[in-house]
Amino acid sequence: MVQVLDKSFEVFITRDEIQTEVESLATKINADFEGEDVVFIAVLNGSFMFASDLMKCITLESEISFVKMSSYEGTSTTGKVNELIGLNNNLEGKTVVIVEDIIDTGITIDKIMTLLSMEGAKEVKVCSLLYKPQAFKGTHKPDYIGFSIPNAFVVGYGLDYNEKGRNLDSIYQIKESKSEKSKMLNIVLFGPPGAGKGTQSERLKEKYDLVHISTGDVFRGLDPTSELAILAKSYADKGNLVPDDVTIQILEGEVSKYPDAHGVIYDGFPRTTAQAEALDTFLSSKGTSVTKMISLVVPEDELKSRLISRAEVSGRADDADPVIIQNRINTYKSTTAPVAEFYKGQDKLIEIDGVGSIDEITARIFNAIDSLER
Ligand code: IMP
Ligand code: MG
Repeated sequence: MVQVLDKSFEVFITRDEIQTEVESLATKINADFEGEDVVFIAVLNGSFMFASDLMKCITLESEISFVKMSSYEGTSTTGKVNELIGLNNNLEGKTVVIVEDIIDTGITIDKIMTLLSMEGAKEVKVCSLLYKPQAFKGTHKPDYIGFSIPNAFVVGYGLDYNEKGRNLDSIYQIKESKSEKSKMLNIVLFGPPGAGKGTQSERLKEKYDLVHISTGDVFRGLDPTSELAILAKSYADKGNLVPDDVTIQILEGEVSKYPDAHGVIYDGFPRTTAQAEALDTFLSSKGTSVTKMISLVVPEDELKSRLISRAEVSGRADDADPVIIQNRINTYKSTTAPVAEFYKGQDKLIEIDGVGSIDEITARIFNAIDSLER
């Protein structure tokens, strides 16, 4: 590990790996331009080490020039003006190979290509030691690439972090401390009807300062004149289940209301694998993810007797009728199984024994969460 200013970096590409790759790039270039009049143009400052090592392996009778991109404020109509300083070779009819340390968004190389286009070169190729495909949005993908790397900041072998670290002989990658977003506690709370999800959600919300999102409550709480509510109602009115994409849209709208939440308890969602996948995509776009699915496990007989005694208090018709109860339990079993499997496949399923006093079950859940490495 090395420290550059306030950041820690760890070795990413060693000096030996760099040398091997530089030699192989040179071999390709030597073969591709045999007999041609080649001018290498290395872009300062970052490419000084790469250019130096590369040139030692180039056997072509060639020239090299070091340039620097600079931009200055033009007039109010021209705005920022770019220029290439240091180019004093005649490129007329020559083959040009631009030597870059790294191509990230591709903005710099696009500007360089534009500036070079007036020099009358026969062709212009780009050779970059490093390339970040995920960050790239330019038009000139490098013709020769040493290493395609992930979209993370690197330093060393010419590359700097605020001008420091260029002298390192290997390439180092930043060691990211986990961001606040990725530390969010996002719990998918699962359990059959009567398992105690509502009660436990309240306690979880309290203890870990979470937002509790129950899809049932969200549906019921929608502004009835809103487009989504009308859309959802159009399905419900025909006796159809609200489709996944509508449910997901509604849920995303709800989550987006709490941009600063420490975490979210998802209660009653996702109910299908498609919803679970959509939730993953949505959370990852926000830089976070589902932490764990907590599934409350309660045997069927226990559920039935709980629901029937709850009916005496709640007066909920769907709690009183044994046929309806059985139906709800069956639906739970058939739809939950695949969702639980989905999270199990991501090593995110925690099963909690849901039999016992409310306090006992709460203690089991807290324990499971407190022992997570976060
Ligand atoms: P681009 O215009 O986005 O392709 O970026 C070009 C310039 O950004 C490079 O020439 C570097 O100076 C700088 N840069 C991009 N990514 C990194 C990195 O990971 N480490 C150090 N400098 C970088
Ligand atoms: Mg550079």
